Amino acid sequence: MRRVTTIADMRRAVAAAKAHGQRVGLVPTMGFLHRGHLSLVEQCHDHADLVVVSVFVNPAQFAPGEDLDAYPRDLEGDETKLAALGDRAPHLVFAPDVAEVYPRERLTTVSVRGLNHVLCGRSRPTHFDGVTTVVAKLFNIVAPDVAVFGRKDHQQLTIIRRMAEDLDQPVEVLGGAIVREPDGVAMSSRNVYLEGDERIAARALSGALRRAVAVAREARAGGTQPTAGMLRDAAGVTLSAEPRVRTDYVEVLDPGSLTPPDQRGEGVGGDGTAPRPDASAAPANLLVAVAAYVGAARLIDNVVIGDAADEERLLAATSDEL
Ligand code: PAF
Repeated sequence: MRRVTTIADMRRAVAAAKAHGQRVGLVPTMGFLHRGHLSLVEQCHDHADLVVVSVFVNPAQFAPGEDLDAYPRDLEGDETKLAALGDRAPHLVFAPDVAEVYPRERLTTVSVRGLNHVLCGRSRPTHFDGVTTVVAKLFNIVAPDVAVFGRKDHQQLTIIRRMAEDLDQPVEVLGGAIVREPDGVAMSSRNVYLEGDERIAARALSGALRRAVAVAREARAGGTQPTAGMLRDAAGVTLSAEPRVRTDYVEVLDPGSLTPPDQRGEGVGGDGTAPRPDASAAPANLLVAVAAYVGAARLIDNVVIGDAADEERLLAATSDEL
């Protein structure tokens, strides 16, 4: 495993790998790595010969007043965790500084309109433009054949997939399953902000999703399909029952278009290309997404109802007892 800090060195390393016919994989991160990140690196190895992990806290995706300065950083600790993956460790850690990535005022922004203003985009209106801009830059620098992003930020994954498609970026964008702490809380670098009993309160997010899955299963057992309203109510009531949690949103959307399920088929950004599903088709999946403030931390979590594996993973990693 080798640390690379300049764009020129990164390009040289990738060119050499590609000259030998190797597939290049990228796992973009902002560092302070946890087991969720490490699982993405392991997943990347299944799809690439040269695995690159980028560690870059991207100022462009933080609005003024957000936690850019406080965001936890520990490059050496990250490298130790990555090296401990043994033969699944990345080959390269790309850790440029801010001046390397943004050497002068940036006049160009990549914006996936139509997807960047819903869910987290409502309270963080400039966030996803910062994400797509830096990810587009990383794609240009690393030229990966495959890139892996966590599914905890379902919206980010959806937006990046759409960016790659719209811009003809020759990269396969894969999602990695959410990894949870033993008490069900989704792993996040921002969990470090949780103090004292806030850590316990944070369980309310996965608890809310667990309740939504239970309600979906009850509906199916009774011969009906869960509706967006019943899922939203189930998750919302559970989340708001925890007084130390301030709900930002509880939303139920189509997982692909991030539109309300009753607008399914109308396409993102009103392109009108996708047909409405007919009534005889299999019931469509529903994304239940939650965001909440717990102390200084803004946390997100989600489950895709109807995706049996996703439902099962959530149930296995959470408990009614917690
Ligand atoms: O998910 C993250 O950690 C960041 O948004 C990403 C994709 C590394 C871009 O800075």
